[in-house]
Amino acid sequence: MNKKYVPEPFRIKMVETIKILTREEREQKIKEAKYNVFNLRGEDVYIDLLTDSGTNAMSTEQWAGVMRGDEAYAGSASFYKLVQAGQDIFGYDYIQPVHQGRAAEKVLFPIFLNKGKYAISNMFFDTTRAHVEIAGARAIDCLVEEAKDPKHRAPFKGNMDIQKLQKLINKLGAENIGMVVMTITNNSAGGQPVSIDNMRKVKEVCERYNIPLNIDAARFAENAYFVQQREEEFKSMSIKEITRKIFSYADMFTMSAKKDAIVNMGGIIGIKDGKSPLILKIKANCIANEGFYTYGGLGGRDLEALAIGLYEGIDEDYLKYRIGQMEYLASRLDDAGISYQSPVGGHGVFVDAAEIYPQIPYYEFPGQLLAVKLYKEAGIRSCDIGSFMLGNDPDTKEQLRSQFEFTRLAIPRRVYTQAHLDIIVDALIRIKARAHEIKHGYRITWEPPILRHFQASLEPIE
Ligand code: F0G
Repeated sequence: MNKKYVPEPFRIKMVETIKILTREEREQKIKEAKYNVFNLRGEDVYIDLLTDSGTNAMSTEQWAGVMRGDEAYAGSASFYKLVQAGQDIFGYDYIQPVHQGRAAEKVLFPIFLNKGKYAISNMFFDTTRAHVEIAGARAIDCLVEEAKDPKHRAPFKGNMDIQKLQKLINKLGAENIGMVVMTITNNSAGGQPVSIDNMRKVKEVCERYNIPLNIDAARFAENAYFVQQREEEFKSMSIKEITRKIFSYADMFTMSAKKDAIVNMGGIIGIKDGKSPLILKIKANCIANEGFYTYGGLGGRDLEALAIGLYEGIDEDYLKYRIGQMEYLASRLDDAGISYQSPVGGHGVFVDAAEIYPQIPYYEFPGQLLAVKLYKEAGIRSCDIGSFMLGNDPDTKEQLRSQFEFTRLAIPRRVYTQAHLDIIVDALIRIKARAHEIKHGYRITWEPPILRHFQASLEPIE
């Protein structure tokens, strides 16, 4: 692992001022926010690691593209530019823009899923799980066991457990599996990559039972970089070649472009076979929900920036710097004895809050506790990826126990510097030193029925 900070392969031309509140002010703000970081105002945050989604800094080329964007309602030149980029990078025939990742899910999933059906994934992201459930189906995670121990270092902790997948198909009946979803990188497991070997095996199983295979492609470029670094067979291939290889095993993809395409808004649906009858259905759902199929809820300027960003996101110097930031953060945490999902993933560091607060049970949300502490300590906004995010069983309404209790430090692309990363680690070190003094976590005082962590109110348990 690289301990040295990889210098930025860019220089900075435009800056945004950020302010830092006092500790007293922060304590007041988080209380007013009902201890939910999603209720904080962005301007009250010093270093915002809530998400790497749509929080990226665009390049001069992308901003120039914004000015060139063609705003034609139908058949915009920017649409054709995006289609060309998508076909070139993914090797798929049909490229459908939508306004973000969950829009892609909303348009595509109901075609495959309904009541009585199941969708199986290496691990669903929360909105993806929600769209499976909204379609009436049930979502099942099938993650490899080795991912469940944050300290265990393995190269591809995002992988699907193939044996378990096979058992699930036998148990539920292949005809009841609406689709298999491979999330690359595997966000909820810690931004962990999926190997091509695993993709190949999942493909074999899906083919045997005639189950459609979808890629959740939000962080496909970071995944391809890990493949190049860690999978012997592919080390001399370019990121684009690796990407094409990975996508060759699936039938379709849904993608939030707000991550690896380095834009602030956008999404894509891709279909490998240009003659698929699916395409007519997608166009119809898109027109009804997102807008005409050549803009899919985006402005021409967004389509243009997205087409350019797709290429910037697969640039190898950029990816080396990007993953280098994670490795730098992780190596400083190693020195401090702070545990995280290791080896570090592609888009952030997932700190093991259960280890920092072993005395706090999952139903008092250790990941959320640490997120609140980080805000109070240094104005850093992170989020829980644990039982608070997972929510309740949709059938029994009981609090589910997450496999992990992480606090995610998601790093926006091309936004923060080495000095910012040092502030984050220093704050964690101070918090850990006092962690044993904490007796309780948080309780929920109000929650909505679905996707609760975005809106729920909490209070500290005295
Ligand atoms: N799939 C994955 C793997 C994601 O991480 C996300 C979003 C989505 C789908 C949905 O995409 O936000 O564009 O609608 N993840 C963000 C995050 C929100 O913070 O991890 P979206």
